[in-house]
Amino acid sequence: MLRNPVSTPQQAHSCNDRKTIRSLTVPGLGPNVAKIGRLIPAPDISIEPVLSLGAFMPTAATRFNSVLDAGPVVKVTAGRYAIAWAIKLLGLQKGDGVLMPAFHCASMIEPLSVVGAEPVFYRINDDLTIDLDDVRSKLTPSVKAILATHYFGFPQPLAALREFCDGAGIALIEDCAHSFFGNFAGRPVGSYGDFAIASPRKFFPVPDGGILVRRSENTSTISLSSADFPSAAKQAFNFLEHSLAYGRLFAIAPIINLIGYLGRAARGSQKNVGLDKIEPILVGGDSGAFGDFDAALMLKKMSGFSRLTCGAVAKSRMIAHRRKNYIKLLRGLEGLPRCRPLFPELPAEVVPHMFPLWVDDLDTVFPKLEDLAVPMQRFGQFLWPDTDGTTCPVSSEMSRHLVQFPCHQELTERELDTIITRIRSALDAS
Ligand SMILES: Cc1ncc(COP(=O)(O)O)c(C=O)c1O
Repeated sequence: MLRNPVSTPQQAHSCNDRKTIRSLTVPGLGPNVAKIGRLIPAPDISIEPVLSLGAFMPTAATRFNSVLDAGPVVKVTAGRYAIAWAIKLLGLQKGDGVLMPAFHCASMIEPLSVVGAEPVFYRINDDLTIDLDDVRSKLTPSVKAILATHYFGFPQPLAALREFCDGAGIALIEDCAHSFFGNFAGRPVGSYGDFAIASPRKFFPVPDGGILVRRSENTSTISLSSADFPSAAKQAFNFLEHSLAYGRLFAIAPIINLIGYLGRAARGSQKNVGLDKIEPILVGGDSGAFGDFDAALMLKKMSGFSRLTCGAVAKSRMIAHRRKNYIKLLRGLEGLPRCRPLFPELPAEVVPHMFPLWVDDLDTVFPKLEDLAVPMQRFGQFLWPDTDGTTCPVSSEMSRHLVQFPCHQELTERELDTIITRIRSALDAS
């Protein structure tokens, strides 16, 4: 059975989350209250794209394909629900196996629970490509599909993978959560799979969204409903306030502030969000990101605000800025001791999600980065409990040594310089 892992203090962290957990044990306190967190400054630079007026201004750039070019699309509220739909539409049943990468986050694995399918973990190579020999050794009659993740925007060898799946008689689900844009051998990412999924909010300035791409021959009906208007409006408004808090949307700040003020007055709440109101984060404690999957949300549509925004923002700017920012990080971190960029080249067909850095002594460096309020994530920091160091030695190492920094289109030159300076100082101080 697909076990839902129990959260430990070290697991209170999702793959989307820039913060990690270090619990403190307070001597003298009882076992139930012994674990408390510590306060770290919240990053003053957004880890994910926020909305700015500049987001709508196109930049001259070559057109890139995206998963939206890969086939008919269904828009749900998050990538994890798109995975759940793929599993369901493939007709998988309780006990069927799905080959899943040993380097993962919980929101990739939890969707298997909608039908009771089992994850069968496969190994990855040092460059995060799929270890096809290992995959081959894991094939059994109950294995019906494989999920392949294009980590951080860098595609898997899709032609070989497609051929492999055809030979083995299993379905291919392309996980494009990190690769909304991009090609492989001239074809859009997402177009090689029987299904593909994506997570727009990792690329677009939106609060929700999940994309399911399916082959045109798959015509099964998916009926989804919208969230009720008040919650959808609140979600959209919170996102505008969040963008304002990061110094964007200044031109319409009075309008946002007025609506916020009126809304709070109506609810009798004092809370305000402003540039000076990004509060420190309490990290630690026993809450966790595992168990975030809510099967009821499979039936909800991506919000109107997110759909409109995704349609309206300039894709050319997103693509050009992400590529430029990635290269700036590459150059800015060049020559730093005891670390290396996982992908030191940016191929022409790639639009990066984030900038992954391997750090030799991440256990020591990570708290320093936290204290310097560096925006960051650790994808795969907490691996599914059914896995251990023997499942995939590379994944265990990546889990312990890899950290990612943002390269999204909304970062200003100044913000990027700040990120680089802070990373350098954390690493130089170690
Ligand atoms: C590689 C990968 N796949 C799938 C998902 C699930 O996407 P979402 O957070 O939109 O549910 C994530 C989430 O971070 C992810 O990193």
